[in-house]
Amino acid sequence: MTDKMRLVKFLVYGCQMNFAEAERMEGQLRGIGFESTEDAEQADLILMHTCCVRETAEDKAYGKIGEIKRLKREKPSLLFGVTGCMAQKESDALIRRAPHIDFVLGTGRLGELRRVVEELLSEREGDCQHIVDVVEDGTLPEEGLPARQGAVSAWVPIMYGCDNFCTYCIVPYVRGRERSRRPEDILREIEDAAAKGFREITLLGQNVNSYGKDHKLADFAELLTMADKVEGIKRVRFMTSHPKDLSERLVAAVREGRHICEHFHLPVQHGSDAILKAMNRNYTTEKYRELVRAIRREVPGASLTTDLIVGFPGETDADFETLLDFLREIRYDAAYTFLYSPRSGTPAAKLDGQVPDEVKHERLERLMVLQNQISLEQNQKLYGTVQEVLIEGTSRTDENIWTGRTRTGKIVLWPHQEGECIGELAQIKITQPQTWVLKGERMEG
Ligand code: SAH
Ligand code: SF4
Ligand code: F3S
Repeated sequence: MTDKMRLVKFLVYGCQMNFAEAERMEGQLRGIGFESTEDAEQADLILMHTCCVRETAEDKAYGKIGEIKRLKREKPSLLFGVTGCMAQKESDALIRRAPHIDFVLGTGRLGELRRVVEELLSEREGDCQHIVDVVEDGTLPEEGLPARQGAVSAWVPIMYGCDNFCTYCIVPYVRGRERSRRPEDILREIEDAAAKGFREITLLGQNVNSYGKDHKLADFAELLTMADKVEGIKRVRFMTSHPKDLSERLVAAVREGRHICEHFHLPVQHGSDAILKAMNRNYTTEKYRELVRAIRREVPGASLTTDLIVGFPGETDADFETLLDFLREIRYDAAYTFLYSPRSGTPAAKLDGQVPDEVKHERLERLMVLQNQISLEQNQKLYGTVQEVLIEGTSRTDENIWTGRTRTGKIVLWPHQEGECIGELAQIKITQPQTWVLKGERMEG
């Protein structure tokens, strides 16, 4: 233990898994006397937890890495570490390009953060500790208690890595093979979060439906049902579900669960079978339609969201029109839309027929216009209904307006009333449905 309190500034990019890991890293650092600060100028340690899923994510990180050079110059004792997916992918290149980085930790080595920082603090010789590698042997990052952000919703990783090798995606290369955490460790963590007042948990994994295939202690449907029973937890969410592994048992678990939320994030990626095949997604649009039918039959009112990629190599105008038709047919509540970004080392980056940037942008624009229209229409169906909302806090722009989510994951805004508390469930009548949010008013009682 160090005797002096030190400050760490976190810069976190990427997906929820990264945010969950950053909380765990902060937990490790608290053990050696660090506290978190928002102000990079005050920090003794800056930790950048990175993403490399698209080129834009890497460009952003490189820009920020450049800015930190000035801070290092002004305060030579400042430590600067880069961790996570881009650290894993770039490794040596990162340090060659930015020698002011003190250490690099790959995705499987985050559990070593505390030791590395302690060593650097005691030696301060400025030697870069370059520790990058994917752990393939089933070892998980150290399980410490996370220093959770927020007060209502807790992220709980249930598995690390991905075995799917979609041809566009870098994640399996930088995160290694699927490793599931043990159910008892996950449940202990959920119980701890509940005891600390958290009311909602989100179980995280690149493909939660294949949870437990390695250790066979429980499958995902069983895990969800166990999580549902933890005292004090009012909502259980999960992401992401790969369509090829979505089971009837999972749909049944959602239907039967008390607190399991009726929301499926089921990324389809594309609506053309030729593109899905080239993406190595291992399902057809027909199989996907069947899943959607099963979800809507078994869990009426469930919301459905997706991820979409436009401009995958070989995507023709006709493929793109097929995707638009697919969206008109499925009618997602919301979609996260991405421009295809070639990632070196992935099979798709080497394919012929890379789509020119202007075409990609035009298609993305059309896709977003269509999806926004559909999202608005989906939300308009909720006009006049009363929704159960978990109160998360005040809206960012107006402290008299409160915000929370429906069980289906939609953001709700309403004027705050005396006696309302964060973490409680409220009944809100929807009076003004919009594309991204539902505005409403509190029902009495
Ligand atoms: N494991 C999750 C999500 C992983 S990354 C899943 O399979 O759904 C989140 C999203 O980023 C993906 O769903 C995909 O839509 C997008 N993505 C991944 N690689 C990409 C690339 N090279 N270019 C553009 N989008 C990409
Ligand atoms: Fe990437 Fe596919 Fe794995 Fe998702 S399932 S992380 S898109 S390889
Ligand atoms: Fe990015 Fe790694 Fe997540 S590449 S999307 S931070 S798994």
